[in-house]
Amino acid sequence: MREKTTWEQFFDAHAPIYDSNVFTGNTVSEVDFLLEELELQPGDSVIDVGCGTGRHSIELARRGYAVTGLDLSAEMLARAAAAARAAEVEVEWIRSDAAQFALPAKYDAAICLCEGAFGLLGQGDDSIDQPLAILCNTSRSLKPGARVVFTVLNGAAMLRKYQNKDVAEGRFDPITMVESSEYPPQEGLPPIPIRERAFVPTELRLLFCLAGMPVVHIWGGTAGNWRRDLLDLDEMEVMVVARKTDEPMPWPTGQRL
Ligand SMILES: C[S@@+](CC[C@H](N)C(=O)[O-])C[C@H]1O[C@@H](n2cnc3c(N)ncnc32)[C@H](O)[C@@H]1O
Repeated sequence: MREKTTWEQFFDAHAPIYDSNVFTGNTVSEVDFLLEELELQPGDSVIDVGCGTGRHSIELARRGYAVTGLDLSAEMLARAAAAARAAEVEVEWIRSDAAQFALPAKYDAAICLCEGAFGLLGQGDDSIDQPLAILCNTSRSLKPGARVVFTVLNGAAMLRKYQNKDVAEGRFDPITMVESSEYPPQEGLPPIPIRERAFVPTELRLLFCLAGMPVVHIWGGTAGNWRRDLLDLDEMEVMVVARKTDEPMPWPTGQRL
């Protein structure tokens, strides 16, 4: 049998209590915000990468959009499917690693929120290859012109939080921008080693551009405090709004995806 990745172990164990996290309490207003940014037409299709228990997918489906939720954790997806049944909406659920999925270019928009996969590195994952694979897979699933919204860990805040001592003791690596810790997903369970990757805006512009989705805006994007405003250097998350292009990208090779 395939061994579960650390994040799969973490979220399978965390699934029963995920929706009690305070940061999940703003779904309706977050979807209002997303609808303005994604410029959707009635009935358009959306892919929700790292959809978790499906809170955004289900709210979008409730408003008439055709939604696919993709996630690595079977337990998170089981809760998402149960919540969709209870809400009497149809959502397509796909269990997959976001760094490995391949879907045809049929979506009008993509979301990847609260570190839904992007920035959650497996133990052996490279800190550039894995996030770039997620962006390229997402980009390939989109129609040209599709908008995307990602919220990701803020590299500026991570750099300001850690000291040289933390670097020396392996809690934070400024070369990879990876924070390493052990985290019990639920009281009573053994801790799981996890690696979380933060991003600075310049590299976000480069990574999204390499994936054929030039960045339109970078704003403050911490859950509960989404806004079209300057970054706060100490806030936890950054929001990236980008648009899939079918033009050759300016760097590094000018090739299409
Ligand atoms: C913090 S939750 C965010 C869930 C949801 N987007 C939200 O805003 O509530 C992160 C989700 O990403 C999923 N995830 C982590 N790594 C992933 C990967 N490589 N591929 C797909 N999903 C992944 C986890 O299983 C979890 O459900």
